[in-house]
Amino acid sequence: MNTLRVALLGCGVVGSEVARQMTERSDDLSARIGARLELAGVAVRRTGRDRAASGISPELFTTDAAGLVERDDVDLIVEVIGGIEPARGLILSALERGKSVVTANKALMADDGYALHTAADKHGVDLYYEAAVAGAIPLLRPLRESLAGDHITRVLGIVNGTTNYILDQMDSYGSGFAEALEEAQSLGYAEADPTADIEGFDAAAKAAILASIAFHSPVTMSDVHRQGITDVTSADVASAKAMGAVVKLLAICELAPDGDAVGVRVHPAMIPRTHPLAGVRGAYNAVFVEAEAAGQVMFYGPGAGGAPTASAILGDLVTVARNRIGGVTGPGGSWYADRRVHPMGQT
Ligand code: HSE
Repeated sequence: MNTLRVALLGCGVVGSEVARQMTERSDDLSARIGARLELAGVAVRRTGRDRAASGISPELFTTDAAGLVERDDVDLIVEVIGGIEPARGLILSALERGKSVVTANKALMADDGYALHTAADKHGVDLYYEAAVAGAIPLLRPLRESLAGDHITRVLGIVNGTTNYILDQMDSYGSGFAEALEEAQSLGYAEADPTADIEGFDAAAKAAILASIAFHSPVTMSDVHRQGITDVTSADVASAKAMGAVVKLLAICELAPDGDAVGVRVHPAMIPRTHPLAGVRGAYNAVFVEAEAAGQVMFYGPGAGGAPTASAILGDLVTVARNRIGGVTGPGGSWYADRRVHPMGQT
């Protein structure tokens, strides 16, 4: 059986979970891929920390991420460092060297997805990033593949688990904002700096990625009209409740009826309690997709956390490994470069 060697860039909550699941389910994964997956190295900022729980052999750790990507015996890259640099440079270096990449990096994909897709297409390799949006929920690949023959007109969803958890605690138990945020952080849902969650940056990055894929248009973070939940008070939540509504942070991506413009916005919204999105509790995410032929399709599941995010990464890893063995690649970007993106999120 062939062996494919994987470099893991980053070993935080998600990275160590990827390594753990990869090692624990090695035989199953090999059978599904038709090749063995082997960890070639793990790039970290500092060696010497106690990472025994990850089960990774200590000699695999290196601080030389660029050197690891360049190694001839590395076939596939998993990037879970996050942020723009050095992740962007490392991914571009990998793609240029003919190595397929799996990333969970929503900030980077929202900032530079078009250029990265172009590089992957040019070098005939895969770029997959299911974990970048809505954790474990299979969403990006259904949009890129299953709905590729349809005409998507609207994507509407709850794509940030931390804010959904906070708003849900405020709604269900009358909790204060700060108390609920602290709980979300202790449960590991929030980003290292929760500003990204509560100010809507995280949801805006995910909305940009969803709109780019759904509408085949390079939408970036700066195109998304954004408002977070820091101004939502317990009184707002209580009065919404009294009116039979619930406050949710929504990401809304729309295609103008004439198809020539895209609008993307993230903001808190009151929705009726009878709406299916109203029932999305805790750190769960849910996304509605409206397509001309399919009608309304809903995706629902855990949107944050180490194990669910690792599940999405491993799913991508199995796919890029299979593609590599079969000498094929998955779908590329396929953009309409001339579609306008409306700055206020209105179409
Ligand atoms: N902080 C993010 C969230 C993690 O709460 O949804 C997943 O992107």
